[in-house]
Amino acid sequence: MQLLKTKQEVREAVRAARYRGLSIGFVPTMGYLHEGHLSLARRARAENEVVVVSIYVNPTQFGPNEDLARYPRDLGRDLDLCREVGVDIVWNPDEMYEPGHRTWVVVDDLTERLCGASRPTHFRGVTTVVTKLFGVVQPDHAYFGQKDAQQAFVIRRMTRDLDLGVDIVVCPTVREADGLAMSSRNVYLTPEQRVQAPTLRRALLAAEEMVAAGERRAAAILARVEEVLAEATLGRIDYVEIVDTDLLQGVEAVDGESLLALAVFFGTTRLIDNTLLRPDAASVGFPPGADLSPR
Ligand code: PAJ
Repeated sequence: MQLLKTKQEVREAVRAARYRGLSIGFVPTMGYLHEGHLSLARRARAENEVVVVSIYVNPTQFGPNEDLARYPRDLGRDLDLCREVGVDIVWNPDEMYEPGHRTWVVVDDLTERLCGASRPTHFRGVTTVVTKLFGVVQPDHAYFGQKDAQQAFVIRRMTRDLDLGVDIVVCPTVREADGLAMSSRNVYLTPEQRVQAPTLRRALLAAEEMVAAGERRAAAILARVEEVLAEATLGRIDYVEIVDTDLLQGVEAVDGESLLALAVFFGTTRLIDNTLLRPDAASVGFPPGADLSPR
């Protein structure tokens, strides 16, 4: 496994691979890797000849009062995990933005709701850095988690709109045994908050059950989700919404595939989770490996 620092080194390494006709799979991360990240790297490993993982805590996607300075980091451990999964190249850049950087990639509409409402500059930071990472790595396939569903939809939209020529693959959310979605930020939770955090998943399951039982009214589903979330007495809801899977706009009824997404604060730690609601699904839940559609 190669550990590369500069854009130039990465460009040269992937150019050599492409010259040999090898396909390149790319997993962008901010490090402090867990099973969620590793599931993306394994999928990339299975589907490509060369696997590149980037580890970069991107400052432009953090708001002024967010956790950039204390975001957890452990490069040594991350490298061991990447080696175990069979990653070929880890890119851990020191510099990403040129002094005087003035260019931003902005996706309209999809970025304004859900997480975008409470984190107004977050997605332009994500889309800008992902465009820059894609520009250097020029992957055939790039892997993202459904855990950050809005991010995945935004990046898929951006990739299409800007003809970036990267196939965006969205992989299922990996969870702890009690249902909590894995996240680098889970380490911030106090023991008491950690006990209550799986309530997010239980609220999503309650919604899935309602849809499976024939409920279509978004308001009724949202009311039930909020009722379950209220059981987490240490939590404070940031948002709970049901939106369409195109422009992520609120829907009144779950008539087609819809995204139920939520964010809950435990103290200053903000946890997110989501599920796709499918009115025509025969059973509750989704088959393992189900992708966020449409591709
Ligand atoms: P980060 O939070 O490190 O996540 C990197 C990738 O891992 C994202 O695609 C995310 O959706 C995925 N992921 C995280 N937790 C997951 C889980 N429990 N199950 C499945 N996938 C999971 O997302 C980012 O970094 C950044 O915004 C980035 C795209 C790297 C741009 O800076």
